[in-house]
Parts: sequence; structure tokens; C-alpha cells
Amino acid sequence: MSTTPTQTKAQEAQHASATPMISLKDVTKVYTLRDGSEVRALDGLSLDIPAGHIHGIVGTSGAGKSTLVRCLTSLERPTSGSIRVDGKDMAALSSKDLREARRRIGMVFQHANLLDSRTAAQNIAYPLALAGVKKGNRRETVTRMLDLVGLSERGESYPAQLSGGQKQRVGIARALADDPAVLLCDEPTSALDPETTRSILELIANVRDQLGVTIVIITHEMGVVRSICDSVSLLEAGRIVEGGPIDQVVSDVDSRLSHELVPVPAVPADILDAGGHVIDVAITAHPGQPAAAHILSIAAQHGGDVAAGVFETIRGAQIGRLAVTVPSDHVDAAIAALHDAGAAAHLRGDRA
Ligand SMILES: Nc1ncnc2c1ncn2[C@@H]1O[C@H](COP(=O)(O)OP(=O)(O)O)[C@@H](O)[C@H]1O
Ligand SMILES: [Mg+2]
Repeated sequence: MSTTPTQTKAQEAQHASATPMISLKDVTKVYTLRDGSEVRALDGLSLDIPAGHIHGIVGTSGAGKSTLVRCLTSLERPTSGSIRVDGKDMAALSSKDLREARRRIGMVFQHANLLDSRTAAQNIAYPLALAGVKKGNRRETVTRMLDLVGLSERGESYPAQLSGGQKQRVGIARALADDPAVLLCDEPTSALDPETTRSILELIANVRDQLGVTIVIITHEMGVVRSICDSVSLLEAGRIVEGGPIDQVVSDVDSRLSHELVPVPAVPADILDAGGHVIDVAITAHPGQPAAAHILSIAAQHGGDVAAGVFETIRGAQIGRLAVTVPSDHVDAAIAALHDAGAAAHLRGDRA
């Protein structure tokens, strides 16, 4: 794994302990409906999230995402299996210890759900007051939190006077005020426009870097995963069916997550209609490695062209998906050259 020269607080946290911040083992949650039938919302789910990581959880509606969040916060007890957060077995805690443990988990939702009759500062102070933090300390924390989320000047504003993005910033400040070890974000940007989404994601990444907090983001937006997640899990029918560090997942070109993260480009129909040979190429190039230009030159050498393509930079690596067309008598040679160049390449419609 490559490291950046400046060690962030998050990286220190990651290196400091091999024990994951969040550890789920074989977690099952069965709901019994009124007619006696059972719904297996979580089905033997296991997952470890290292301290200081930003972990994305994706999955279609009904996959079990909300149930997972409720189990993590102990709003819901799993039917079986174990859940450890910050080293504590959530199922084994007394109700007093559970309250303490819950304070270690901050929550951010799709809508900030602020109290309309209170200012931004009062909203941030609210959970601190509930937790019995003294007034002076509260004021100091609120100032620090407003500063962290870039709203130093807006503490006295009421929610109605704030934009959607600003409200979400207040929501994040409120979630962080009590110094949690874990920040659980359930669709934090789903109600925001693309530009605001970008700024909120930047803030979330910043929060991790500055505070070293472990972040779990539930999302249906692959852009969220692409831009800030270190690792990702695909949840389906209560199970994690794929997952891992982003770079690994993306490099596994046949995985569903890889297809979702960097979709294979559509090839114009007339090319396929004309009986053209399309080679699907996938590259993962780390800085200093030959990448896009090299692939293009191979295509050119074989009398080919690029019919469609997409590039993304994910965790510093250049990820490319290209549809290369070549004359039929060059297909084998072009594929061999692409393999030699370290790319995955296969003739479209010709997958084993
Ligand atoms: N309180 C509940 N009672 C009964 N079934 C539930 C309850 N909560 C969730 N479910 C069921 O569990 C499954 C997972 O739901 P959920 O965790 O809400 O998924 P997601 O958040 O990914 O959409 C679904 O089939 C849902 O209908
Ligand atoms: Mg849900």
C-alpha cells in the first residue's frame, strides 16, 4: 500500500491498532411479521472496518442498510452474531454502558433534522446539554465545531436562514460535538445538488483527516464511494456479496462493484452493427506507470481506434475503461499486446 508523505491523524489511527474500530461477526437480524412470517434483514453478515477508514456501504432498497445502521447504534439488537464498536461488545453492555457507547457514535442523516426554533449553535449544543456537558465547555465545543464545518459566521442563524448544504454542515457539527469515535452517515448527500454534494464530501474527508474518526457512509451514489471511500461493501439480501479496499475492488474488473464504480462505456450501435470487433480494455495505472497513452498507441499500432472510453482517478490510481475497435485480423495481436501492457482485455461478446 502506498503512503502519502504527510501522515494524517487517520493514518496514525489506522497504524496504531490492528483491531478494527467496527467488527461485525455473523450478524443476523430476523423480523417476525404479524402473520408469523419471517424477514431475514441481515443474514450472517461479517465486516471489519479499520479505525480512521471511510467505508461505503451500497445496496439496493431492501438490502438491509438501515437495519445494519440500527444494529450498529444498538437501536436494534441482532437476532444472533456479535457487534463490536471501539472494542466494546454492544450486546453485552448494561443499559448505562450502552448509553456511553452510543455517545461514541455520531449520526448524520439525509436531512439534517435540525430544531427549527433553535439557532445553528444551539442545535450543535443540544446533544452536549443532554449528555450533561457544562455550559462553558459547550460554548467552546460549539465554536470549534462551527469552525470545523466552515460556519463560524453562522452560529446565530436559524435553520430557515440556511441553505441545504449549510444545514447538513450543522448536522455534521452536531454529530461530531460529543467527540465520537465513529460517524455513521445514512445517505448524507442524497438530498443535495452535485456541487453541494462535492463540498459536503470534502468536509467529511476533512473531518476524517483532522479528527481521525472512523466513518461509515450508506449511499446509493457511486460518486460518493469513488470520491471519498477507502473501502466499500456491496450489501444484498442482508449479506455482503462483494467488498474490500477501493483500489482492489476496482481492479477486479469482473466484479459488480467495479462495473458500478467505473462503468464500461457504451459503444455506438453503428460500430457493432457494422460487425466491428470491439475489445474491452480495463487499466489500473498507479503514478509513474504507463497508462492511457500507452493503450492508445497499442490501439493505433493495430490500425484501431477508441470507440468509447472513460477515465477516473480513484485513490490516486488512473482507472480506465476503453472500448477499442480493431480490424479482425488484428484482434489476437492487439489483445496480446494489451495484456503485455498490463491491461485486462477481451473481445466483446467473447467472454469465458
Ligand atoms: N421493522 C421491521 N419489521 C419488519 N421488516 C422489516 C423491518 N425493517 C426492515 N424490514 C425488512 O428488512 C429488509 C431490509 O430492510 P432495510 O434494512 O430497511 O433495507 P434498506 O435500508 O437497504 O432499504 C426489507 O425486506 C424490509 O422490508
Ligand atoms: Mg433504508
